[in-house]
Amino acid sequence: MEASLKEVKDSIGAIHDYPKPGIVFRDITPLLQNHDAFKSSIDALKQRYEKSGVTQIAAIEARGFLFGSALAYALGCGITLLRKPGKLPGNIVSQTYALEYGTDELQMHENALTSNDKVLIIDDLLATGGTVLAADKLIRSTGATVAEAAFVVSLPELGGEDKLRQAGVACYTLCQF
Ligand code: PRP
Ligand code: ADE
Repeated sequence: MEASLKEVKDSIGAIHDYPKPGIVFRDITPLLQNHDAFKSSIDALKQRYEKSGVTQIAAIEARGFLFGSALAYALGCGITLLRKPGKLPGNIVSQTYALEYGTDELQMHENALTSNDKVLIIDDLLATGGTVLAADKLIRSTGATVAEAAFVVSLPELGGEDKLRQAGVACYTLCQF
């Protein structure tokens, strides 16, 4: 593993039995507090996507917003927000999904994207893949293309990478636990 990506991985915390017994919560707050590690994460993503022709980043609330907005700034593209219920003011499209520890719903403005958009989905972490597959469905329902889904952290044992492969969604992760 490249030194800068090792720095990213080493800056991620592990909190046992949060938010429920048996869950190891991978905590990105130490990464965010460490400028070098945060910069390394955004630089790695920028390097991968700067020639990709992506027109929009679709960032998933809440932790995906942090990486999505920094990357959109670095790439010089727009950012589309995929939000939890009741947060967006305009007409929305909506998708429910199962989580590692519960269920949730994602919403997007129905006119946020068009068939001309090539979209990169960004989130902090891939676990079971439920969240990103809901994002993928919302984005495709507008006619836009999903170029790839990118994550700072992946937890392969939870099956998200396999689920994305089966669904035909390309996936890129900076580090795995
Ligand atoms: C976490 C994480 C991903 C999702 C991954 O978000 O930020 O969005 O879970 O899980 P999955 O692959 O099993 O779907 P969470 O819903 O906890 O929300 P938050 O970012 O607002 O804390
Ligand atoms: N989201 C879903 N599962 C998670 C985990 N184990 N750690 C951090 N965020 C998560």
